[in-house]
Amino acid sequence: MKKTALIIAGNWKMNLTLGESNELVKQLLQGLPKLNGVQVIVAPPFTALQAAALELKGSSMELAAQDLHWEKPGAFTGAIAGEQLADIGCRYVLIGHSERRQYFGETNSIVGKKIQAAFRVGLKPIVCVGETVQERESQKTFSVIQTQIQQAFVSLRSKQIEELFIAYEPIWAIGTGKVASPEMAQEVHQFIRDQIKTSKTPILYGGSVNPENARGLFAQPDIDGALVGGASLKAQSFLSIIGSAISVLKENG
Ligand code: PGA
Repeated sequence: MKKTALIIAGNWKMNLTLGESNELVKQLLQGLPKLNGVQVIVAPPFTALQAAALELKGSSMELAAQDLHWEKPGAFTGAIAGEQLADIGCRYVLIGHSERRQYFGETNSIVGKKIQAAFRVGLKPIVCVGETVQERESQKTFSVIQTQIQQAFVSLRSKQIEELFIAYEPIWAIGTGKVASPEMAQEVHQFIRDQIKTSKTPILYGGSVNPENARGLFAQPDIDGALVGGASLKAQSFLSIIGSAISVLKENG
């Protein structure tokens, strides 16, 4: 099938001061070429979201938060509600990133509640799934991903599944420099595609994506873009990944 769109999302994690974030946004906006079907999203830390939202207004780059709480606004000290994110101009929210699962005890059922909360306020969820190295080595990759998807999506309507994004991020590839080979990633993306029974949901790959390996990943039939961590913190490398996406689409078109 011909590829007509690719999505490049940058996850800045718990990095950057407000000043550094503003500077990165500025550099990205200055360097952004004509996107021709590539969609670009950035997820700054909460402290920099509002400033980024103002800066991005009217541009072709969109804004994501890195997390949300599932409850409506109220007495939940330290948490941020979807309503608050939508209010400042976020359109997307990362949900179930492996670091949230690993360090903050997020379960598949919490991921499910956060997806519902995002839909409630009109935010588009980018739902992350992925296996550990031990799970891969013991041939459990498919069953782990199947469980993550089944449990988190259990109360979603099929229309909602078509409206979210999935990011496949093998945990052993995150921040390690060990990217999954394009074939390895494609195999899991195809499995996810079969699980969700729709070709409409974009499936991004994440885990050590950089300017050198991006093009090979984007050329795979079921890889619809990338969730980029480390390489999204430098304008030059993030712009270069965006450039790879533009040229893959051009070659396909
Ligand atoms: P990485 O992170 O690109 O630094 O491996 C990706 C992610 O965690 O989303």
